[in-house]
Amino acid sequence: MKLAVWDPDEPFRRWRDALAQHAGELRLAVEVFDAVEQPDEQADFALVWKPPAEWLAGQQELRAVFNLGAGVDALLPLMRAHAPQVPLIRLEDAGMGRQMADYVAEAVLHAYRRMDDYAALQAHGTWEPLVLAHRTGFGVGFLGLGHMGLAAARRVQAMEFPVLACTRSGTPRAATAAGTAFDGPVYGIDRLYEFLAHCRVLVVLLPLTADTHGLLDYGALSQLPRGAYVINAGRGAALREQDLLDLLDQQHLGGATLDVFETEPLPPDHPLWSHPRVRITPHVAAQTLVGPAAAQIMRKIAALERGDAPGGIVDARLGY
Ligand code: GLV
Repeated sequence: MKLAVWDPDEPFRRWRDALAQHAGELRLAVEVFDAVEQPDEQADFALVWKPPAEWLAGQQELRAVFNLGAGVDALLPLMRAHAPQVPLIRLEDAGMGRQMADYVAEAVLHAYRRMDDYAALQAHGTWEPLVLAHRTGFGVGFLGLGHMGLAAARRVQAMEFPVLACTRSGTPRAATAAGTAFDGPVYGIDRLYEFLAHCRVLVVLLPLTADTHGLLDYGALSQLPRGAYVINAGRGAALREQDLLDLLDQQHLGGATLDVFETEPLPPDHPLWSHPRVRITPHVAAQTLVGPAAAQIMRKIAALERGDAPGGIVDARLGY
């Protein structure tokens, strides 16, 4: 079978070697080619990160497309337009959960230990111990409890903060092979405002869909308690940046750590860059790891070959 890789961000040989190794372990005969270099070559399976629409439209033999990341918001519209019958499959954790948990844990502790306040005091050479909130009242809320949300929530739970979550369906997440159950209240999205009112820290790990676009606007963000902290490491467009800035300037919100933005790269003159209560990283919270991703994709291809449905098939109707 022929596997096309379209990933301009990664040297092709890394994908080729990792895929060949895992195919060998599964006794699958594969031929892997670089679609960026050979755009006219036809593939049975495509592994892609932001491929051009023309390339996808020119692929006539695809049995499945694998998204080389967690979020499919960029790829789904192309699939709808050019390959509507072909299943789109996303990575499920594949080493990204631990990175996301690290990122969120750091930001939660940054907020809890009032590091922005100490930075402001340091700037004036002021030695002033500040009051530390009781941990039991410092609820950390996860908006979105997919693979990334669950990994981060488990870590924060292990750090002994109270956790809560809000998801589309409001159903609790059970224990999985990868870890323990989520042990906290889970609100349905219809109770978003009630959920937000309980979050000292809000962690946004939503997929970007028609339902989540602009969900965190002024009305929603102002439900957060005074001084609350916002972490967004899902998709930028779920949160209205100007509304966040307004609420920071009105001192309703205490600060934010942001990895994702409405426009990426964040434009050089954007006011978020210089805001004293905002920390910015350039969409690096959880990056695709070639080894674990290749292993997972080959296992999913093996499942397809057996006629089984692998995990991670995107529901085009829901958008994730
Ligand atoms: C990164 O944002 C991803 O979707 O994997």
